[in-house]
Amino acid sequence: MTPSLRLAAPLAACFIALLTHSYTALAADRDPTPMAQWIKMGKEAFSHETFAGNGRVCETCHLQGGMVPGQRPDGAPIPSLANAAAIYPRFNGRQGKVITLQDQIRGCAGNALEGTPPAYGSDTLNALTVYLTSLAQGKPLDMGGKPQ
Ligand code: HEC
Repeated sequence: MTPSLRLAAPLAACFIALLTHSYTALAADRDPTPMAQWIKMGKEAFSHETFAGNGRVCETCHLQGGMVPGQRPDGAPIPSLANAAAIYPRFNGRQGKVITLQDQIRGCAGNALEGTPPAYGSDTLNALTVYLTSLAQGKPLDMGGKPQ
């Protein structure tokens, strides 16, 4: 074998291994099954989790899984969450800073539910994020835009 051929064979093997590996990793990332499970977990939390607060759940105010707008008893509007994931991060005038979707979820858990907000990085916060993002899937990104 010439030296270049001797190199070519292991290199080709390496290339094929790399291709196979990234294809497998990509396929696993795009496998709908785990995502569907996380969406389900998030929807469960949205409908049932009280965060040890006042007994309300997200769906008490954000009706039909967050798909339709609601109203507080004092008449103030409660936005639909149908495109929430597409309009965050956004500037929050009250707090005077930019907040992310996760900051807002934790804010509602702490204030509206008077509960203990799920920790950043926790399965519950991630599942709620996945669920809300699934509602906005395919909608145009409109950072800072209006709730639907
Ligand atoms: C007592 C009623 C109430 C409950 C319960 C509640 N929220 Fe909210 N939520 C609101 C109101 C009112 C707003 C409007 C913005 C604000 O005042 O913070 C809002 C805003 C939001 C937004 C931002 C929507 C946008 O387009 O700007 C998200 C996301 C959200 N809530 C998620 C949740 C989640 C997740 C839960 C459960 C942990 C929850 N909310 C529980 C009343 C509530």
